[in-house]
Amino acid sequence: MPSSMELFIKWAVCTSLVLIRIPGIDGSIVNFHKTCICASNIVSCSKMNLTTVPADLPKYTAVLDLSYNDITRLRAEWTTYKLPKLHNLLLSHNGLHFISTEAFVYVKHLRYLDLSSNSIRQLDEYIFEQLEYLEVLLLYNNHISQIDRTAFTGLSKLQKLYLSQNQVSRFPLELVKDKTRLEKLSLLDLSSNRIKSLPIQELQDLPAWLKNGLYFHNNTLICDCELYSLMAHWYMRRLNSAVDFKDDYTCIMPGPDKKILHVFELNMHMNCSTYNESVEEAFLEQSLVLKCDTRHRDMSKTWMLPGNVVVSSGNNQTAVVLADGSLEISPIKLEDSGQYTCFAVSEYLNETLYVWVKVHNFTLNGNSETLNTAYTTLVGCLASVVLVLIYLYLTPCKCFCCPGQGKSKNNHEDSIHSSMLSATPTHEDLASKAEPNRHVAFIDPKDLQGQNGKVNRNGEEELEDEAKHGKGKRKKSVADSISSVFSDTPIVV
Ligand SMILES: *[C@@H]1O[C@H](CO)[C@@H](O)[C@H](O)[C@H]1NC(C)=O
Ligand SMILES: *[C@@H]1O[C@H](CO)[C@@H](O)[C@H](O)[C@H]1NC(C)=O
Ligand SMILES: *[C@@H]1O[C@H](CO)[C@@H](O)[C@H](O)[C@H]1NC(C)=O
Ligand SMILES: *[C@@H]1O[C@H](CO)[C@@H](O)[C@H](O)[C@H]1NC(C)=O
Ligand SMILES: *[C@@H]1O[C@H](CO)[C@@H](O)[C@H](O)[C@H]1NC(C)=O
Ligand SMILES: *[C@@H]1O[C@H](CO)[C@@H](O)[C@H](O)[C@H]1NC(C)=O
Ligand SMILES: *[C@@H]1O[C@H](CO)[C@@H](O)[C@H](O)[C@H]1NC(C)=O
Repeated sequence: MPSSMELFIKWAVCTSLVLIRIPGIDGSIVNFHKTCICASNIVSCSKMNLTTVPADLPKYTAVLDLSYNDITRLRAEWTTYKLPKLHNLLLSHNGLHFISTEAFVYVKHLRYLDLSSNSIRQLDEYIFEQLEYLEVLLLYNNHISQIDRTAFTGLSKLQKLYLSQNQVSRFPLELVKDKTRLEKLSLLDLSSNRIKSLPIQELQDLPAWLKNGLYFHNNTLICDCELYSLMAHWYMRRLNSAVDFKDDYTCIMPGPDKKILHVFELNMHMNCSTYNESVEEAFLEQSLVLKCDTRHRDMSKTWMLPGNVVVSSGNNQTAVVLADGSLEISPIKLEDSGQYTCFAVSEYLNETLYVWVKVHNFTLNGNSETLNTAYTTLVGCLASVVLVLIYLYLTPCKCFCCPGQGKSKNNHEDSIHSSMLSATPTHEDLASKAEPNRHVAFIDPKDLQGQNGKVNRNGEEELEDEAKHGKGKRKKSVADSISSVFSDTPIVV
């Protein structure tokens, strides 16, 4: 009877604290192994010289501790049935070097997964995809050098990812940026790896609450003033990542002797200019949004205008606090220049941020309109010249005689034009209203200009900095990394 067998095993595992091994086919003697210790839904099989995960784990297991064993491979069939309650799986110190892509199919509700201190070399594509509830993933102290760009895909609830003490050489920007980013991630530990260069501008553009938990000390970064400026700013903002490991941020001087310097002392060695908090510049009549870039997420924010005027909703003010806590000033006036203060309050942290605004005594439009006109005229002229040439040399004279054909030709031109410059939605409307010939000369230039802008922006996006690969010289030092603080302390259930 399978059910009574199951009951028996449950009893064996969890009542007498002994897992009874029934003799194998080889007919070996019955062994009584003291294997796992149970405390209600916690199953601890730590330090038991196991080479495989014990079979017949109770289905109600919530915490499974398999640390300090010899489980070198985590196969797909390590459990052959669902463990729907399992949310804590500890596999550290096992010499683990293989994880099946189907290893987590039956344990989809994991929230905490400890794979630290093993021998994992690479993270394959979609390896953790099933773990949509995972919040903490420990991978420090492995031999990871390759991380597939899709390795962490699907971890939509992941908050903390520890990758320190590995051999990572590429900064995994995809985890924090754009649509591939992990929505809930607030801690990413990449310290003590082999990263040589960082996508500095992209990092600087991240919100402070993310930078606050972005650790990359003790890597093999190349010294430069941009790096100094970045860290100086983070330190000035009292971001944990910079403050807590101030002395561990080192870099390697370019040059033959590869001298190792402290990042925070670079200004003395490399003549880097001191970091200044930037001033927000605006033009008259413009609408300006000031961000309250706090170190924590979800803080409640209030603003104070220059002259210590508190912004309140019912007030007759041009400044309004938006839903995300930013302050919008619209339209901005000359006397709006000055220091703005954001007070952010949460259960754990009170923060005061200052933003300086300088309003120029002219409107942006007034200036650019003259430019606009000049540009439009220029492009218009060029377009007319091209048109004249087309008419002179390319158009069969038939076209002048038959209006129908002329029209179709214009439509054709239009479509070529749109496919090349991907016309704006208004393009067709305007085209249908305007006379065919005029349309080309007077409407296109504006279109061209608008599209130009778009093309530029896309171009900039394509420049997205790829962190460079490369092997770095390993730097030795003694202090522990942040990870050890969290290392073997499982989440209390
Ligand atoms: C595990 O193996 C070591 C060495 O073989 C031995 O000393 C130790 O007693 C074993 N532990 C258990 C729980 O069997
Ligand atoms: C640092 O910069 C200043 C002025 O920019 C220059 O006079 C000085 O020689 C520089 N020092 C070094 C060590 O490059
Ligand atoms: C930094 O700000 C100070 C005071 O506002 C100013 O004197 C100095 O020139 C600024 N330095 C740089 C590099 O912008
Ligand atoms: C709002 O402010 C404007 C100018 O600052 C003033 O003319 C107007 O009377 C004010 N309205 C109210 C309701 O206070
Ligand atoms: C934040 O400030 C408020 C009022 O000023 C105070 O009551 C609260 O204790 C402070 N919280 C922290 C975490 O400092
Ligand atoms: C701003 O510009 C206007 C004219 O352009 C001038 O009359 C006014 O004095 C300027 N204000 C300041 C503060 O410079
Ligand atoms: C720095 O990293 C190296 C390996 O990359 C490691 O051996 C060393 O312990 C680390 N030092 C600190 C202070 O974390």
